[in-house]
Amino acid sequence: MTFFKKTLRDVPLDGKTVLVRADYNVPLTSDGKISDDLRIRASLPTLRYLLDRGCKVVIVSHLGRPEGARNAAYSLQPVADRLATLLDREVRLADDCVGDRAYQTAKKATPNVIVLFENLRFHAEEEANDEDFAGAIAKASGAQYLVQDGFGVVHRAHASTEAITHFLPSVAGLLLETEYTMLTKSVESPKRPLVTILGGAKVSDKITIIERFVEKADTLLIGGAMANTFLEYQGESIGASKYEPNQHEVLDQIYAAARAKAGEDEVDNFILVPSDVAVARHISEDESRRVVSSDAIAADDIALDIGDRTIERYVKMLEGAGTVIWNGPVGYSELDNFAHGSARIALALATHPNVTSIVGGGDTADFVLKWDGHGGKSFTHVSTGGGAGLELMAGKKLPGVEALLDANR
Ligand code: 3PG
Repeated sequence: MTFFKKTLRDVPLDGKTVLVRADYNVPLTSDGKISDDLRIRASLPTLRYLLDRGCKVVIVSHLGRPEGARNAAYSLQPVADRLATLLDREVRLADDCVGDRAYQTAKKATPNVIVLFENLRFHAEEEANDEDFAGAIAKASGAQYLVQDGFGVVHRAHASTEAITHFLPSVAGLLLETEYTMLTKSVESPKRPLVTILGGAKVSDKITIIERFVEKADTLLIGGAMANTFLEYQGESIGASKYEPNQHEVLDQIYAAARAKAGEDEVDNFILVPSDVAVARHISEDESRRVVSSDAIAADDIALDIGDRTIERYVKMLEGAGTVIWNGPVGYSELDNFAHGSARIALALATHPNVTSIVGGGDTADFVLKWDGHGGKSFTHVSTGGGAGLELMAGKKLPGVEALLDANR
């Protein structure tokens, strides 16, 4: 599958100053340390490509949601430090992304020094997709090209993803190209059977992707708190479990589409919900794992993982799969006793000889990277995209991709 936009390979970048839009919106611990650097590591191939060609690299990114105000808790300094370690070269943080000081920092840097501009979202104009602000970023960078590589943020029409393309010839970076083609292919032309695993909390956040998977997938496996919403819809008592109320109409529609596709008799083999769950009275690491049938959840039980019978059934489906798309842990995976389901799924994918496995969504990526001793290499692709990945797989157009130069021009 060829990508429909120009990439950094299609333009003469050698020796040029290049502005790279990365998504360094990484999780931080309460004392400001990066707890997962997947997004930083995923940006390295593009940065190395540019450095190898003698480019001067200026990077812009957002971090968190500082809502248009300068806030030290959202400074990109920890990212600059991690990037410097990973690339083994100086990364200089400019204290703003527009204005003379940013301009001077970029101008004075030699090509072996990377310049990182401070958090774009310290300015409200970033999320407002402000044209003047985008022009000011381009000017401060002194760049001749924009390389868009922030896959996680291209579903947003922001100044650094959309308006910026009015000022600089704009092409895709290697991460964006890989993410886009891998995710699109996995939904549009997968090696079959295509099995999708959906977990996490909310059905309402994922309606369009569930509908798309009903259309495209051969089997849907439901887990996580989302499974409780499905069980409640089916009339089960779910005790004190977390679920999303008022979703019956949405699920009516999803099941109508599922019945039309799979047939009334097969619908429960098409959308699989847990037949048993692991429960506890409290969400705590001291709680042991107790497995009960899904129709026997007591009033004060909280369902925190798929049960052992469900794990076996889901793993069997995965063993027969050609492609698996996994979005959302199937249990409360922060606690070991309730990470059994997610761990068995990870193991089934990592040891399956021929499966194409696409793992996406922040929590799922976090989980598999911690589980995997090989930096995620046990899976075909660990996506850096949360919302962007879901929107792409749901068939939506992504403004930050649409705005790039077309491949055939
Ligand atoms: C993400 O983490 O999903 C992206 O960086 C986008 O962040 P946002 O949801 O704050 O726009």
